[in-house]
Amino acid sequence: MNKRDFIKTLGTASLLPLVTPLPTFGTTSFFSKQKKVLILGGRGFLGPTIVEAFIASGYDVTLLNRGKTNVHLFKNLPVIIADREKENKQGLRTIAKKHKETYWDIVVDTWQKSPKAVADFLQEFKGQFGHYHYISTISVYDKWDKKYIQEDEPLNPLPKFPETVEEHFRYAIRKTLAEEAIREHCKDFTIYRSHGIRSYRVGRPGNPDSEPFWPIRFFRGGEIILPNVQNHHMQFTDAISLANFVVHCSKSKIYGSFNVANTPTPFKDYVSSLIHATQTPKKMHWIDGDFLIKNDIIPYKIMPFWRETPKGSYYFNVQKAISAGLVNRPMVEVISDQLEGYKHRYPNDDIVFGENINGQQIKYYSSDKEKEIIKKWMLHTNKKNHE
Ligand SMILES: NC(=O)c1ccc[n+]([C@@H]2O[C@H](COP(=O)([O-])OP(=O)(O)OC[C@H]3O[C@@H](n4cnc5c(N)ncnc54)[C@H](OP(=O)(O)O)[C@@H]3O)[C@@H](O)[C@H]2O)c1
Repeated sequence: MNKRDFIKTLGTASLLPLVTPLPTFGTTSFFSKQKKVLILGGRGFLGPTIVEAFIASGYDVTLLNRGKTNVHLFKNLPVIIADREKENKQGLRTIAKKHKETYWDIVVDTWQKSPKAVADFLQEFKGQFGHYHYISTISVYDKWDKKYIQEDEPLNPLPKFPETVEEHFRYAIRKTLAEEAIREHCKDFTIYRSHGIRSYRVGRPGNPDSEPFWPIRFFRGGEIILPNVQNHHMQFTDAISLANFVVHCSKSKIYGSFNVANTPTPFKDYVSSLIHATQTPKKMHWIDGDFLIKNDIIPYKIMPFWRETPKGSYYFNVQKAISAGLVNRPMVEVISDQLEGYKHRYPNDDIVFGENINGQQIKYYSSDKEKEIIKKWMLHTNKKNHE
């Protein structure tokens, strides 16, 4: 029970607590400032980092999910079991009355599947929550044809808002529709448009494609191919920095929409951080982008953090979030976290990039391909030097 609930239960008849010492339960005073946070989800990829950040900041955290994913996490936290994918709010309607009557100071929603599910929650819990936070994406912007896109750029044109949870749209449209629902149903909200989230955890555990290629590649050492491309910048979102920003916005009542990522960083600085977090490789072969493309090393699809047309991607303007208090951790720390996660999941360091494992094609180039390209590049540069 928080201060607000407590005052409600007193009713008008009892003024006694105003003149008598306050009762306490355990170490928490009835008038303790501990705020109630409801995390919708919380046990997947990003959710756990957000949960950890709120716990570390002294909030009273409750989860809402189906009790299916990573049930070993946060065993001591209360969990409201509900299925948000049930039509006509049936999943939300089975939630016990005591939870429906609780006032949630903060709600964090990581939902990405259905905009209708987002709208359903906002309607069903209307009046029962204060500050609503939504993890969105930069994919909500309509055009990526210029650098330093700000929050007021036009969003994707939208179809009619879905009438069912089941109705399917592509990812960018789902997220944009969800944002629309929030703007319609909520007064105090914060939307985080994030970009390439990096964490100790991965989005699809068990899928090697989800594992962090560059940190692993530098961890393994040897001779490494790198793209030598003019003005090559990259950008990602550190999960911990994002989670800390969500807590900061909660504490400071910061509302609105924010692009959230690190500032666009020269790829060579990223490489310095990779070396700092791992080791100096035997040799770094900085190979011209055109040469790599000719040899089937396709930017982004095959080689991460390199896009052929750099406008937009990797140049999102995050100044608004930084001015509001986003603090991005050093890259070295993020890379170290990613590697720790990888070593935990694959203690034998046995992912084979660029090959087929258990029927899954891994998108990064294989070590044989790497050796072959290095050989070709050396021949190419030797030839050029003798011309
Ligand atoms: N990956 C990126 O680089 C990137 C970039 C930009 C934005 N984003 C956004 O970041 C967010 C990441 O979310 P996340 O998956 O990591 O969140 P999460 O909160 O960690 O995990 C998803 C949670 O949702 C619960 N859930 C799934 N289906 C449910 C249902 N039908 N009813 C109730 N709960 C359900 C799952 O638990 P149960 O299965 O037990 O129900 C799980 O706890 C997404 O919104 C994504 O759009 C990601």
